[in-house]
Amino acid sequence: MSTAPQAIAELRARPRRTVLAVPGSSVKMIGKARELGVDEVFLDLEDAVAGPAKEEARQNVVDALHEGGFAAPTVVVRVNAWDTEYTVRDVTEVVGRAGAHLDALLLPKVRTADEVVALDLVLTQVEKAAGLPVGHIGIEPQIEDALGLTNIDAIATASPRVLTLVFGPADFMASIGMRTLTVGEQPEGYTPGDAYHHVLMTILVAARAHGIQAIDGPYLKVRDEEGFRRAAGRTAALGYDGKWVLHPAQVDAGNEVFSPRQEEFDKAEGILAAYAHSTSVEGGARGAVMYGDEMLDEASRKMALVVSARGRAAGMTVSETAGEDR
Ligand code: GLV
Ligand code: MG
Repeated sequence: MSTAPQAIAELRARPRRTVLAVPGSSVKMIGKARELGVDEVFLDLEDAVAGPAKEEARQNVVDALHEGGFAAPTVVVRVNAWDTEYTVRDVTEVVGRAGAHLDALLLPKVRTADEVVALDLVLTQVEKAAGLPVGHIGIEPQIEDALGLTNIDAIATASPRVLTLVFGPADFMASIGMRTLTVGEQPEGYTPGDAYHHVLMTILVAARAHGIQAIDGPYLKVRDEEGFRRAAGRTAALGYDGKWVLHPAQVDAGNEVFSPRQEEFDKAEGILAAYAHSTSVEGGARGAVMYGDEMLDEASRKMALVVSARGRAAGMTVSETAGEDR
């Protein structure tokens, strides 16, 4: 059996181009979610579930985990935040009864590192009591307010279980008093630039500083595919690993936007091959080489590796016509 660090390293490396949110209160939606070709699915016990439906949702989620059958290779549950009366029971019930079928817990509204530490401690006890290997279930903290953003480095490093940092735009916008009701779009009246740039970049930089993934949150106008593509395209361009999807209509677009384009992938693979040859003794041991009309060096190789790794994770292969235009 793999050790906890190996299990967590494997979970961290998985693709998360699309992360599907599914209300734990809806057996029907959980059923539909099984078929969708997303990279990660999370069954929600938090804000998509009304207070009176919380208990039933927990039961649905435990049943759904036992039943399995999700096309998504990574299955997660979003527990309630620490300022509710639900968190400990969410963990006890879900992990205690179905932890063997679960990859991680998504922890919403994380404001301080202590909240991640607390979840790690509870998880460890529940894993031990349930006879599960200790430390194999990951934590995905969601950053949803100003304090969480301020404490982001401490949150990212609070537990070895942390896999990602996830932006929660709706709660974040509410918490800072941004004047808009449309999640994923720019607030009216803010014309220059992107109102989310600072937040998105802070999360991304912290994630990269600590070797974990950065995931963008939801785009709520689920029938506006063009709007979704625009919003997803912005965070994909920054370097985010993926984004939430709320509806089947967003799935293909999300997987496409967060995978490299074929010509980008071909170019990255071409750069890696050309650079490997040129830096080898047989290739002349040169550190700077021309590739088409571009001068490449070690930093270019690192950039190409990022695109290549994402493409390979998405199952891409080099096209037959690659390199013909050089
Ligand atoms: C998601 O939880 C959000 O608040 O956007
Ligand atoms: Mg939220």
